[in-house]
Amino acid sequence: MFKGVLFDLDGVITDTAEYHFLAWKKLADDLGISIDREFNEKLKGVSREDSLTLILEHGNKAGEISAEKFAELAKVKNDNYVEMIQAISPKDIYPGILELLEELKAADIKIALASASKNGPLLLDKMEISHFFDAIVDPGSVAAGKPAPDIFVAAAEAVNVSIKEAVGIEDSQAGITAIKASGSLPVGVGSPKDLGDDIAIVPDTSKLSLAYLETVWNGK
Ligand code: G6P
Ligand code: MG
Repeated sequence: MFKGVLFDLDGVITDTAEYHFLAWKKLADDLGISIDREFNEKLKGVSREDSLTLILEHGNKAGEISAEKFAELAKVKNDNYVEMIQAISPKDIYPGILELLEELKAADIKIALASASKNGPLLLDKMEISHFFDAIVDPGSVAAGKPAPDIFVAAAEAVNVSIKEAVGIEDSQAGITAIKASGSLPVGVGSPKDLGDDIAIVPDTSKLSLAYLETVWNGK
């Protein structure tokens, strides 16, 4: 049986993937760059800086932005995003997640956060679920962001679980690629159209439970 679960946060634990999209969309609109939800699938799971680079490349503006302006744009997006998440509370935890965290704790399965977001600790605090996490990986501490496997490898190491004995839960294409590359078992939240038809996928988090993860594990 698996010994650890490595959680993504945005779009898995709560609806902040939507706030990231809205904050990027506002920034892109202000720059005269049009982004839609299909393009946003490529941004999910991707670090702040890499997301901004993708947006600027999408708008053919990567060449005209100085390093100083780039840092300013990243800050504008984050300030806007941080304002949006101020009101997040335990009510915003996605259905089934609190129950899953409780089940994992009771079964002595390690719980780690493998989110690319520097706002992860703040969000866990706001949702009052920090105490469930045996480790929270600092995304700044890993060499390469998702789709590279580094953050999942670091999360398993942080809770002393072999990566091969861990399950990773993700809503993003970059994150699923990272989990696959890490050697842990991917479980997707979303649709096969976005995440692929070769992994276990739940349409929403209410379908996640210890029993479900065990079924996926036993069927791998
Ligand atoms: C997560 C989200 C991305 C976001 C990244 C960095 O991976 O899915 O949309 O860009 O974290 O988040 P941050 O809060 O540090 O800008
Ligand atoms: Mg996510």
